[in-house]
Order: sequence, then structure tokens, then C-alpha cells
Amino acid sequence: MLTIALSKGKLLDPSLEVFRKAGYSPAGVITDGRRLVFPCPEIGITFLIVRPTDVPTYVEYGAADVGICGKDVLLEHDSDVYEPLDLGFGACRIAVAALRGLGSRNRLSSKIRVATKYPNITEQYFNQRGVPVELIKLYGSIELAPIVGLADRIVDLVETGSTLKAHDLVEVELIARSTARLIVNRASLKLKHPAVTDLIRKLRGVGASSRSAAPRKATRIVKRAGKR
Ligand code: PRP
Repeated sequence: MLTIALSKGKLLDPSLEVFRKAGYSPAGVITDGRRLVFPCPEIGITFLIVRPTDVPTYVEYGAADVGICGKDVLLEHDSDVYEPLDLGFGACRIAVAALRGLGSRNRLSSKIRVATKYPNITEQYFNQRGVPVELIKLYGSIELAPIVGLADRIVDLVETGSTLKAHDLVEVELIARSTARLIVNRASLKLKHPAVTDLIRKLRGVGASSRSAAPRKATRIVKRAGKR
């Protein structure tokens, strides 16, 4: 049996769809209930549904053999897991945003306050640029911070851009792009090698792209994608 941790929320339905396309039929997994554990003995998998930010922790500690989470979560948490596949869905970007009219790059030369649920990514990004920032850690609804004067900038996920637009915010810097990734526990890759490699092969067969020929450790490096 493989235990697979799936991210609750936006990535959950497309994750289950990928398993269906790959020939696994996760019948009985209910996505709108309170249950968190779904044994599917007919396909040799137990699915766990957990908070997206917790997926790398479950996989790193071996509570799950495999997980699916966004690259944004991997960049933020620097977990010691393998990241063999880019699953392609859940495309979004991690961006710096500011209130419309206050997005001038010149302001980045002085100390600014940045609200985010990605303190590590944010700190690393601004450090690399030599820009001193005061970080304000929030857990959601980040767009509110500049409106009420809590922060000069936010660093947040942008998918369609509609949440930014609804709050009169604009993207001023792109930090990194993110898609859903398959991650694997290091020990499971060895101890459950046939099942794990079979899973990777089947998921690759439905369009997921390999991160490299051999599975590799998830990297923390934030690639500077340039100014948008
Ligand atoms: C994410 C993100 C933005 C929104 C972006 O929030 O933090 O708020 O999605 O999507 P858009 O560009 O398509 O509008 P999420 O729904 O995960 O909730 P949160 O704000 O509570 O973190």
C-alpha cells in the first residue's frame, strides 16, 4: 500500500483527476466532507487529505510515501523530499503586489513593510536584491493588508489576477511560477521502489513532466523570473 497526501482546496479535484487518468480509480474519496483518510485497497492506495502547507511535512517524515502540493509550498518549506514530477496543473505565480499607483520600483530602495504567508520566499527574494524589508506574517486574505495600511506590499499567489484587481492592487514583481508537483519520501523511494516508480511512470504517461531523469530533492532556490 502507498499512502498519498493530497492538498485540500484548489489542487484536490485536479489531483484526483490525474489519478483517474493514470488508471487508478480513487472511488470513495469524498472531497467536500470532514473525513481525512480514504483507504482504497482496490488500487493499493490510502489517500490523506491535508492542508497544502502540511503535505511536505507528511511526506518528509514518512507519514505519507507520496504527496501532491504546489511548488510555492516547496519553495517556502525547504523539505527534504524528492520532487520527480511537475504535474502541470494549478499554474499560478508568486508575485509582489502593491496598491495601484504605488508600484514604482523606486520605492523598493527604502525599507518597506511586506505582508505575506510566504515569509521565507519573501525574505530570500528581497535579501537577494539587497532590499531591507519588515515582514508581516499573515495566514490568509493578504490583499487586505495594503488597503488598511498594514503593509506597503504583499507577496502572494496570483492565479487569474481577479483578487488583486478586486482590491485595486497590481503586480509589481514576479518572484516565481508554481505548478502542482509530485513529491516522494526518500525512504519510500527505496523501500517501496516498484510501487513508487510504477506510480511515477503512470502519472508521467498522462502528461506530467519529469523534473529530471532521476528524482531529485526539492530545491529551495527562488529563481528570479525578472520584472513583469
Ligand atoms: C489565493 C491567493 C489569492 C488568490 C489568488 O487565495 O492567496 O488570494 O488565491 O487567486 P486569483 O488570482 O485567481 O484571484 P486562497 O483562495 O488560497 O485563500 P487565502 O487568501 O485565504 O489564502
